[in-house]
Parts: sequence; C-alpha cells; structure tokens
Amino acid sequence: MQHARTVAEYAYAPYSRFKVGAALLLSNGHIVTGCNVENSSYRLTNCAEQGAISAAVAKFGPKVRIRAVGVANVDVQTACMPCGACRQTILEFATDDCWVFFPGQSGCPRECAFSDLLPESFRLAH
Ligand code: THU
Repeated sequence: MQHARTVAEYAYAPYSRFKVGAALLLSNGHIVTGCNVENSSYRLTNCAEQGAISAAVAKFGPKVRIRAVGVANVDVQTACMPCGACRQTILEFATDDCWVFFPGQSGCPRECAFSDLLPESFRLAH
C-alpha cells in the first residue's frame, strides 16, 4: 500500500483530478507500480492497475503472476476499489490465492480475496 500511495502522486489525472496508484506484489517477490494516465479523449484513459500490469509484463515477461494488488488514491478519505475492467485485467495474471488491498468506504482499509471481487469471471476456454 505504501508503494501504491507513493506512485499515486505521479498520476496524470487533469480531468478527473482522481489520482490513483497501484502496486503489484508478484510471485517472484518483486513489486511493480503504475498510476492512472488520462487523456482528453476520456475513453483512452489508462487505469493505475492496467499501467502496473503492463509494466510488470514488460519487465518480467508473459509468465509474470500477481500475488497481491494494492490500490490507493491521493485523497485518503475516499473509496478506491479496482474498476470492473481492471478486475478483468488482474484476472489474466492473478495467482489462485491473489489478494487485493484498497480503501473502502471513507477510505477505510479493506482487503479481499481477488476471487470474491470477480466471481463467475470470464475466461476464454482454449
Ligand atoms: N481509475 C483507476 O486508475 N483505477 C481504477 O480501478 C478506477 C479508476 C482512474 C481512472 C480515471 O483516471 C480516474 O480514476 C477516475 O475514474
């Protein structure tokens, strides 16, 4: 969470002013971070979690796996749980026992098994 809070300060969020940081604890023990990067064409915005996952794959390759995700925003009083799109993105690399840490209501610290955040999730059968 400390890594997530630190990287949140680097976010590029001039439109929402909602600066988010994400830190991934990988199975290999490394921590990789990302922050949200917005765009004037709003739908091109990248979430913090997605940025962190891209960075992790670029650094460690496609076999990288996520043990835990920490999400933080700069405003410590506000909830900031991973959005639906980010949950689906995390799923792609999550270990079977992945945990997610985030600020819930009023910024109260929450922790959840990832499988509880995205039940009945979509995976392509192949
Ligand atoms: N945001 C994230 O970075 N992660 C999430 O899981 C939720 C939303 C960002 C996207 C946008 O820049 C800002 O928060 C407001 O939606």
